[in-house]
Amino acid sequence: MLLLWTNNLSVGVQELDEGAKKLLHFINELHYAVQDAKADGAVDPQEIEIALHRLQNYVTYYCGREEQLLSGIGYAGLKEQVEEHRRFAAAIADMTIRFKNSTRAKDAEELMHFIFDWVTNHVYVTDRRFLEALREHPECLR
Ligand SMILES: [Fe+2]
Repeated sequence: MLLLWTNNLSVGVQELDEGAKKLLHFINELHYAVQDAKADGAVDPQEIEIALHRLQNYVTYYCGREEQLLSGIGYAGLKEQVEEHRRFAAAIADMTIRFKNSTRAKDAEELMHFIFDWVTNHVYVTDRRFLEALREHPECLR
């Protein structure tokens, strides 16, 4: 399963939309790395580590930008956003350590499931909740 961008995911802020597309792209890259590993019968821990690292860096950057923007408009749900972002960053950091050097395809799949679940719940649900607040600030919308 791949995560696809559709226009109804747009929050109306170009920078965040572009960022979300990139985020999905990095997750799909990790998905491909895991698929390759399964096809080869063994995981290349380095390939997974590189994809995870890239994802982790981007999540930190993207969530930071989102928090800045939401804080700027005084969004009431900011605390919920920040907490979910932090939990995800911590979970990825934790899994990077846990799966370091693992060649088990099962581990890589568990990792993918976790990431897919988080994105499905966060980008597709939690991030939709600030749409209305953003609409009250047309200066943010582009
Ligand atoms: Fe978010």
